[in-house]
Amino acid sequence: MTISKILKHTKTLTKIGTGNYGIVYLINLKRDNVWCKYSCDFCHRYSKYGDIAIKQTPTKDDTTQEDMKNEYEFHKYCYQHNKKLYVSIYDFWIERSVRGLLNDYPIPKTNGFYVMEYMNCGSLVDYLKTGNYIHIIKFICMILYIIYYTHNVLEVCHGDISWENLFVSHKNTSNIYKLSIDNKDIDINLSGFQIKLGDFGIAEKFNKNMNNQLIKRDYIIFHQMNQNTSIWKDLLSEIHYNKMLIFIRENILKYLYKDDSINYIDQHIMWNTLQHLPLENSNIYFKDLSKKILIEYIDFFEL
Ligand SMILES: Nc1ncnc2c1ncn2[C@@H]1O[C@H](COP(=O)(O)OP(=O)(O)O)[C@@H](O)[C@H]1O
Ligand SMILES: [Mg+2]
Repeated sequence: MTISKILKHTKTLTKIGTGNYGIVYLINLKRDNVWCKYSCDFCHRYSKYGDIAIKQTPTKDDTTQEDMKNEYEFHKYCYQHNKKLYVSIYDFWIERSVRGLLNDYPIPKTNGFYVMEYMNCGSLVDYLKTGNYIHIIKFICMILYIIYYTHNVLEVCHGDISWENLFVSHKNTSNIYKLSIDNKDIDINLSGFQIKLGDFGIAEKFNKNMNNQLIKRDYIIFHQMNQNTSIWKDLLSEIHYNKMLIFIRENILKYLYKDDSINYIDQHIMWNTLQHLPLENSNIYFKDLSKKILIEYIDFFEL
């Protein structure tokens, strides 16, 4: 793939997001010429989607070409194992050029490009801010399942499961998720919504000596939720709102502290406590944790 090939098939190009590393564009596709319908590889592959998202990431001191390949490999690995839990990733390439997707450069620049499915409700934080979703209880269950599946089934640590890196889309077809945890199966109906994990920029395979900092960051979303409770107040009935907060505080944040006496509102204390867990056990500890939390959540909300 090349930038020119993409641009030839672009009807409209819109910037839809920036993270710490990349700029993400939405591309609405068109045919380049009359022959495209018959003999164009690009159209053959992409015209069925209508829209695609492309992340453009420049190489920097702390983002090498190896880092970019690593991000793509982890994303592809997870997506190929479970297409419902991870943002679809279709292609990746690195290109050195004076041409960017939106702007040209005075001197050639090296960028990585990731071609992905466009998630039409944006990131989870964008979506929650619109305040019109009522299935938050099921969303959280899906997030816990994503953590569980990533850790326990794929043995991958994502390292940044935040509400900027979870994506929401809505289609008019309803879709039942079948979650299986050990021998227990549960069905979740999100009424046409999908919630998926993306941005594998710092993912690693679980290993005995891995860094606690990275594993604990897979629960970052629950800190974000605990600290921005006003977002949910508008979304949930009072009963559900209180139940949800109790669950997150009592069952997720407290587990992470491993100590009931610690004030779980103060996240610095938690970071420090986790840092001091014995390293050789942390991967096992955290893998058990994701399963335990998920099972308790399902019971708590009688899902
Ligand atoms: N597939 C997508 N569909 C819709 N919006 C997206 C998609 N991918 C990224 N975005 C938007 O772009 C932002 C940055 O993307 P991300 O992959 O997290 O990049 P970074 O590695 O720079 O954090 C996201 O928070 C989201 O708002
Ligand atoms: Mg991101």
